[in-house]
Amino acid sequence: MMTSRSSSHPIHPLFIKRWSPRAFDPVKLSDTDIHTMIEAARWAPSAYNVQPWRFIYCLRQDAEWDLYISLLNPFNAAWAKNASALVFLVSDTVFQDRNTPSAYNSFDAGAAWVQLALQATDMGYDAHAMAGILFDDVTEKLNIPDRYKVEIAIAIGQRTTPAALPPELQEREGPSPRKALSEITFKGAFPHE
Ligand SMILES: Cc1cc2nc3c(=O)[nH]c(=O)nc-3n(C[C@H](O)[C@H](O)[C@H](O)COP(=O)(O)O)c2cc1C
Repeated sequence: MMTSRSSSHPIHPLFIKRWSPRAFDPVKLSDTDIHTMIEAARWAPSAYNVQPWRFIYCLRQDAEWDLYISLLNPFNAAWAKNASALVFLVSDTVFQDRNTPSAYNSFDAGAAWVQLALQATDMGYDAHAMAGILFDDVTEKLNIPDRYKVEIAIAIGQRTTPAALPPELQEREGPSPRKALSEITFKGAFPHE
């Protein structure tokens, strides 16, 4: 699926340059590079500025790499094992100052994820979000406190040729299209269905 992307209105090129590959070249990434990507995520907006996101990560050269890969479902583990870094994104379900449940922790974590992804793209890397993870194992093995919700894992690395993937995944590798602006945008009110 090697379609090219174009936007229907002029936008920053990063938005359509970013996509989620599965074919990664198993190169090393530095802590500084990961910290730079998380720095971008750190500046995401959040409800009441509580910044509920937490990032727990491992580089492929680290001793915990195999453990991290084992926390993905088998489909994701099969390709993400060639990534350079794996990040687990968790969010605080409790409003820090108020001790009340937050209704926005996942929404805010989503904003942080996309800022990380766009920063990765800008740095010549790619980030691929995964909800296909073993949530209970992540909580247990990575010592996540009960009040944090495990959101997603993020594989980060250097994109390579789809030929490195099994045939069924090769067909899906490439930038995907989007719904038309007119399908998702309603002026005034939601149209009657
Ligand atoms: C919350 C979330 C969960 C996702 N889970 C997976 C996953 O488990 N495995 C996978 O291969 N891709 C996963 N994806 C990637 C999406 O399929 C991908 O972002 C979507 O098809 C749009 O393609 P693009 O990111 O290349 O533009 C996930 C993306 C998001 C945002």
